[in-house]
Amino acid sequence: MIPYHDLSKINHPLADDILAEINVVIEKNKFVMNTEKFEEEFADYTGAKYCVALSSGTAALHLSLKALGIAEGDEVITVSHTFRATAAAIKYCNAKPVFVDIDKDTFTMDPEKLEDKINTNTKAIIPVHIYGNMADMEKINKIAKKHGIPIVEDCSQAHGSTFDNKHAGTLGRIGAYSFYPGKSLGALGDAGAVVTDDESLAKDIAGLRNWADDDVGHNYRMASIQAEALRIKLQNYPDVLGDKEDIAEYYQENLKQEVFVKRNVRHSWHIYPYILDEKYDREDFIKKLSDKVELKTHYPVPVHRLSAYKSSYELPNTDFVANHQVSIPIYPEVEKEEVVEAINDYFATLL
Ligand SMILES: Cc1ncc(COP(=O)(O)O)c(C=O)c1O
Repeated sequence: MIPYHDLSKINHPLADDILAEINVVIEKNKFVMNTEKFEEEFADYTGAKYCVALSSGTAALHLSLKALGIAEGDEVITVSHTFRATAAAIKYCNAKPVFVDIDKDTFTMDPEKLEDKINTNTKAIIPVHIYGNMADMEKINKIAKKHGIPIVEDCSQAHGSTFDNKHAGTLGRIGAYSFYPGKSLGALGDAGAVVTDDESLAKDIAGLRNWADDDVGHNYRMASIQAEALRIKLQNYPDVLGDKEDIAEYYQENLKQEVFVKRNVRHSWHIYPYILDEKYDREDFIKKLSDKVELKTHYPVPVHRLSAYKSSYELPNTDFVANHQVSIPIYPEVEKEEVVEAINDYFATLL
């Protein structure tokens, strides 16, 4: 059976280099607050002026909103087709998440439906570059600028993704990244970061991660060994991206279904989304394939349908994707021909 993910394909060849750097950390006894080299290198990679290393993507979203002053009574617009952390960060600030529907082709925030959700309480917008595809930052920026609202990009699935040759996270005020181990660029445990060109926001977030807060405060520091692992993995990341692009191209050609990617976008393929036609039963599809290929769904319950949100939004595209999307394995050395064969065989047996 081909597993949905196989982290050993990326991590094992780098293990000796990573262990050597971890030994240096042990020798120096600098286990936290020793992440500057990674911060410089990741800022460089994305083209941002500043990067602040943090403990997770959730912490990155939370501190981005906190540094922007988001508080009780404020509204933050985002999408419901995301991992729940995007909306949770808004809740942590005691603000209200307001959900806008996604565009059916790119699965990202629909800019045409955004302006309707803006009112005087709207204090931030969080587009999510889901699966590695980029939200339409040109249109979203235009609307945000008109209303003077800052954008926090959720880049947790978009390492290496670009829009008009600019990296995810550098098109709005702040970009929040997760380096959870399963991400395209993942650490050896939880880790995250923000990138920004705004010096004062970077300073505030660097302070907030380590209790510099006149309120309760946070420990959102990145462990030094994670920073060292990420430095090694970042050097190798262009190869990972290239491999994923080749696999995505193969799937696009052989699964007879295109994933829409705008011409000015580089997709980083954290997830390869496949939309199963409504006439098929998704549970049956996943079950029948399970002895050949492990498939997942992202995300079967959209955030606005979780009990913590109890919201009665009309988000037809979000609901459609939640009900029909299937994620196909995409990682270096995945047996892509066998994946395609198993999927095509399934349809053939139904004929
Ligand atoms: C879109 C999105 N936002 C936020 C997060 C939260 O990141 P983390 O798990 O590092 O807290 C994730 C990852 O899990 C994610 O996929």
